[in-house]
Amino acid sequence: MAVREVLKMGDPRLAEVARPVTDFASAELGALLVDMHDTMAAQNGAGLAAPQIGVPLRVVVFGYDTNPRYPEAPPVPPTILINPEIEPLDDAMETDWEGCLSVPGMRGLVPRHLAVRYRGFDQRGRPMEVEARGFHARVVQHECDHLDGVLYPQRVTDMRDFGFSDALARAGRFAGGAPCDDPPE
Ligand code: NI
Repeated sequence: MAVREVLKMGDPRLAEVARPVTDFASAELGALLVDMHDTMAAQNGAGLAAPQIGVPLRVVVFGYDTNPRYPEAPPVPPTILINPEIEPLDDAMETDWEGCLSVPGMRGLVPRHLAVRYRGFDQRGRPMEVEARGFHARVVQHECDHLDGVLYPQRVTDMRDFGFSDALARAGRFAGGAPCDDPPE
């Protein structure tokens, strides 16, 4: 289908609350999922939310083979998650670096729940329920934030921990890191 333009921070469409999907059989949903897959693959991203390509629906896609920050973590197969809900499994938080295709070239330190359970539906409307930890849990929280109009810089608690990835890398702040949407440079 098509690689779509990824909206950048500052575009008001990224700040909107997206609508739930109600028709899982529609041709529009099928085409959206193909475009999201193609766009994520073209950018080598770990995840993408529909609002990032200007579609205000509660749809995210994510998946990755390996992550240098969590080398022991099993890969997450390509996942389509529609109308998601996230619930933390406990109070444990973890702070790590994130990046976003909508905030290109930048990184920030973001606290997230270490372990979550997420529920939602696949592309055929079948319910799913998954428990996730570490980077998998971080990616899901990052992508689902997009559905509520939240970008990760809004979750950085100290703005000294937000900056251009090349400058942060030169300063030794992170090496490889665990960016979410935005692939390592
Ligand atoms: Ni993002």
